Amino acid sequence: MNNNTGLLTGKVVLITGASRGIGEAAARLFTREGAAVVLAARGTDALTRVVTEIRADGGTADAITMDLADRADIRSAVDQVEKLHGRLDGAFNNGAIVQQPGPLDTTSDDEIDEQFAVNFRGHWTAMTAEAALMRRNGGGAIVNTSSIGSRRANPVLPAYGAMKRALNSLTESAAVTWAKEGIRVNGITPGGTATAMIDQWEAATPGVIAHLNATSPVGRMAEPHEVAEVAAWLLSDRASMVNGAIVPVDGGAGA
Ligand SMILES: NC(=O)c1ccc[n+]([C@@H]2O[C@H](COP(=O)([O-])OP(=O)(O)OC[C@H]3O[C@@H](n4cnc5c(N)ncnc54)[C@H](OP(=O)(O)O)[C@@H]3O)[C@@H](O)[C@H]2O)c1
Repeated sequence: MNNNTGLLTGKVVLITGASRGIGEAAARLFTREGAAVVLAARGTDALTRVVTEIRADGGTADAITMDLADRADIRSAVDQVEKLHGRLDGAFNNGAIVQQPGPLDTTSDDEIDEQFAVNFRGHWTAMTAEAALMRRNGGGAIVNTSSIGSRRANPVLPAYGAMKRALNSLTESAAVTWAKEGIRVNGITPGGTATAMIDQWEAATPGVIAHLNATSPVGRMAEPHEVAEVAAWLLSDRASMVNGAIVPVDGGAGA
C-alpha cells in the first residue's frame, strides 16, 4: 500500500467505530493520506493498540473512549478534538452494531431502542457537534456509514435496515442544510465486508457469508480498506462537488 497521494494532507479527521473493522482501516489509511486522526469507540484497549501502531509508523493519532448511545459522551468527544487540534476538517461517522437477525415480529423492544440510539441518534448528535466545530474554520466534510441493507426491504435485519435508511435521509437533509456553510455531507453503503460484524452475523446465521459471496457480482466480501478508500475520497477536497450522495461500495451487489 505505497500508492498514497496526500489526499487528506493537513486535515484533522474524527473517526467513530475506529477500534476495529472499517473504522480501524480508515484510521490507518487517512493517516497515510496525511491526516491527523482522532479515533473514537468504546473499546479503550483496542483504540490504544491502533493509535500506538499508527504513531509508530509516524502518524498523528489520538484515542477517545466514547459510547454512541450516550449523547453527552459524543459531544464531549468532539470537544476533546477541539482541545487537541483546535479544528475539525473531516468526520467519518462509522460506528454501529448489528442486531440479532430475525423478523420484525420477534425483534425485541430493547433491540429497537439500541439500534435507534447507536445506529441513528448517535450519528445525528455527532453530526451537529461536528458541524458546529467545522463551521468555525469555514467548513468541512462528513461521511456517514450506512449499509446496502438500507436500500431495500430488510426482512432479516429490520431494525438495522430501518435505522440505516433513516441515516440516509439525515445525510441528505444535512447536506442540503449545511451546503452554504461549506460543509459537505455524504453517505456510503458498503455491502458485505470482512469484519467482526459479518462474523457476528455468520455466528448467528451459519452460511450467510457464503450466501453473500455467491450473490455478489464480484463473488467476495470487501476488505475494510476498500470501503475506507471511498470515505477518504469523499472527505477530500477532490470530492468538492459531491454532496448529499449515498455511494454504494458493494461490488455491484445492490445493482
Ligand atoms: N461488515 C459489513 O458487512 C458491513 C456492511 C454494511 C455496512 N457496515 C457498516 O460499517 C460500519 C463499520 O462496521 P464494521 O463492519 O467495521 O463492524 P465492526 O468491526 O463490528 O466495527 C464496529 C465499530 O463500531 C464501534 N461501536 C459499536 N457500538 C458502539 C457504540 N455504542 N459506541 C461507540 N462505538 C461503537 C465498535 O467499537 P467498540 O465495540 O469498541 O465500541 C467498532 O469500532 C458500521 O456502520 C456498519 O453498520 C458493515
